[in-house]
Amino acid sequence: MKEELQKVLEAAKVDIAQAGSMHELMQLKSRYTGKKSVLNGFMQKIGSLPKEERPAFGQTVNVVKSEIAEILASREAEIKDSEYQKAVQSDAIDFTMPGRKREVGALHPLTRVWREIEDVFISMGFDVAEGPDVEDEFHNFDALNTPKDHPARDLSDTFYLDKDVLLRTQTSTVQVRVMENHKPPIKIISPGSCYRNENDASHSPMFHQVEALVVDEGVTFVDLRDMLNVFVKKLFDDKIESRIRPHFFPFTEPSAEIDIICVKCYGEGCNLCKGSGWLEMGGAGMVDPNVFDMLGIDSEKYTGYAFGLGMDRIAMLKYKIPDIRTMFENDIRFLKQFK
Ligand code: DAH
Repeated sequence: MKEELQKVLEAAKVDIAQAGSMHELMQLKSRYTGKKSVLNGFMQKIGSLPKEERPAFGQTVNVVKSEIAEILASREAEIKDSEYQKAVQSDAIDFTMPGRKREVGALHPLTRVWREIEDVFISMGFDVAEGPDVEDEFHNFDALNTPKDHPARDLSDTFYLDKDVLLRTQTSTVQVRVMENHKPPIKIISPGSCYRNENDASHSPMFHQVEALVVDEGVTFVDLRDMLNVFVKKLFDDKIESRIRPHFFPFTEPSAEIDIICVKCYGEGCNLCKGSGWLEMGGAGMVDPNVFDMLGIDSEKYTGYAFGLGMDRIAMLKYKIPDIRTMFENDIRFLKQFK
């Protein structure tokens, strides 16, 4: 029996050394030392031995049992350690791996032009004023000296939300709001969205203007001409000039349309300016005394000039965008070009 016991010990050593996981080890533990184990089998056979041999045999079984328990314990420690090492390795962060790329966005061409325009005017002492996109007829038409039967008031040109509530068709509304609330001297610009019922390659139902208003004693048409020239040179480059052509706006007298030298051909004539050498930029004029009178500003004492320029048009010229509608379609491929 002693030899058999020795064999069991040898077999246990081999098995335990080969156990690769805690699960396998636990199975071996119950096979060799558990209740139904081989060793317990030996203990039960003890009764069949002569009395005098029993204590010594019992002791031997116990020695083998504790030897196996020791081997099990040391193998358990080994397996736990190697499982821990494996876990550490698989959870480890590899700082040499390349990072995940994040796409960097770009400012919309209109946003860029908007900020540039604000910077240019702020550098010349203008404040930036704001007004609501949803307006009433008073601010969009009446206070701007626009007759009740003016075609611009028509449903086909203006988006009405309700009787007397509309989406502003021009940033000139902000002139009215500023003059209602401030006494001269006034020197503001007001960039913002406008809305008109039109839609083609050069007109979008939502578009953007920047309005300028300067009111003080002794402001003249020469100041307006001068300011326009300084502005277009700062915004584009030194070779760009502006010119004015007589026009009509209800809220200015005299009124003019503003052109600038074509930014593509510098006046030679090209496809962009349709051979004329000039590009249309917006409207301007001296504030009509009627407007001052309606808003409680002394038209005997003060004069003023105003102009309104298309900001989308400026962005399209600067960034060579052929169709205004592409600016508002949110196509990521369009936006990516302006990184
Ligand atoms: N509000 C005009 C338009 O949308 C543009 C304009 C013309 C603005 C003359 C002005 C101005 O301030 O004086 O067509």
